[in-house]
Amino acid sequence: MSRQKLNIGLFGFGVVGQGLYDVLEKSPALDSRVSKICVKRRINRSLPDDMFCYDPDEILEDESINTIVEVIDNAEDACFIVKKALQKGKNVVSANKKMLAEHLSEMVALAKEKNVSLLYEASACGSIPVIRNLEEYYDNDLLLSVTGILNGSSNYILSKIFDNHESYSVALKEAQELGFAESNPSFDVDGFDSLYKLIILTLHSFGVIVSPGEVLNYGISNITEFDINYAREKGYKIKLVAQVERLRDKKIALFVLPRFVTRDKYIYSVEDEFNGVVIKGVAYDKQFMFGKGAGGHPTGSAVLSDITALGHHYRYEYKKASYFGGFKYFKEAAIELYLRYSNPQVLRNFEFKSVSEEYHGPKYHYKIGFIRLDKLIAIKDKLRDLDIFLAATGKALNY
Ligand SMILES: NC(=O)c1ccc[n+]([C@@H]2O[C@H](COP(=O)([O-])OP(=O)(O)OC[C@H]3O[C@@H](n4cnc5c(N)ncnc54)[C@H](OP(=O)(O)O)[C@@H]3O)[C@@H](O)[C@H]2O)c1
Repeated sequence: MSRQKLNIGLFGFGVVGQGLYDVLEKSPALDSRVSKICVKRRINRSLPDDMFCYDPDEILEDESINTIVEVIDNAEDACFIVKKALQKGKNVVSANKKMLAEHLSEMVALAKEKNVSLLYEASACGSIPVIRNLEEYYDNDLLLSVTGILNGSSNYILSKIFDNHESYSVALKEAQELGFAESNPSFDVDGFDSLYKLIILTLHSFGVIVSPGEVLNYGISNITEFDINYAREKGYKIKLVAQVERLRDKKIALFVLPRFVTRDKYIYSVEDEFNGVVIKGVAYDKQFMFGKGAGGHPTGSAVLSDITALGHHYRYEYKKASYFGGFKYFKEAAIELYLRYSNPQVLRNFEFKSVSEEYHGPKYHYKIGFIRLDKLIAIKDKLRDLDIFLAATGKALNY
């Protein structure tokens, strides 16, 4: 099949949009060009004014534009744009993990119905080609788990805490000043960004679409010196880890939690704003992918890779769902957690299946034991407001 000529309508000209434009300029061999860019504000830009428009329909209704690249920062608007583009029979590349994770079923079905391609490599782990690898290379049922540090901002903060002995608030301020964390950092530090990426990776790992509201995400915003010292004394680092794993009987479990990580693990050495993903399988044991998870040029390069793939008529086939589907999300598995608290009343929120260790100090106490995921999911929004810190010990799930 000959290469398809792409006439691109770009939505968004921020960090990723500009990064993409730069990397496209450096790829003259690619038979694709951006003919129009839709943005929100009328401000001075680095490109001529006539490249820009402010009405999405100027691109969406233009029959000569056959490809939409959506890199805006608003999930609701992105949903409207991507839906309309697919309905109009245009191919779409998106980097919007929140929009995708919340609308995966609908978007995947729409792309199929309209016989167009919807690609989104940049939505999970920026420049690391994890989605296409899961889809194409790990396209068999030997896969056991995908575990990763998927959020650069929280990893930067944790690195500064553990390597430079900075406090959480100082490290967070630094991350914000460097542009790694939003002014409202909850999206990153409370594990939402990692959660949306995990939802996307789960589809390409095991062929299951799970709603983000049904998955436990708990982040690092409640970490204290006590927790940091506990980890340090044991020789651990704390990392914010997202994981999807295969259990017995075609079940899978997934969650985002801070985790105590020992020196022998690949992710122990993933530092600063970097991302790292460990893929575990029956025959090959473990493989590790590492790289930049954010930033204009790294993310732009993932978008460019999707554009190139579109030129070759590439589509995700959702092979796991098609060929060996039938995996079910199992929320009743129990996970071993460290629960640090100060007021014993708080324990009323938690139902431990078993307890292996308890500590009582003058100010802080902790309990280590197994708690079922579904019990935590039921109170996941409340967890952030409790004076506690939760971290997974890394022990195998109990079910
Ligand atoms: N930054 C990263 O490293 C990174 C990595 C992976 C994925 N992503 C994802 O990529 C997307 C873009 O992120 P970003 O960092 O590039 O954001 P950004 O720097 O804040 O830029 C957002 C762009 O979207 C435009 N925009 C917002 N609403 C719009 C609308 N309704 N119609 C048209 N344009 C609109 C803005 O227009 P104005 O210029 O007029 O304000 C701006 O150009 C997000 O989904 C993000 O999660 C980002």
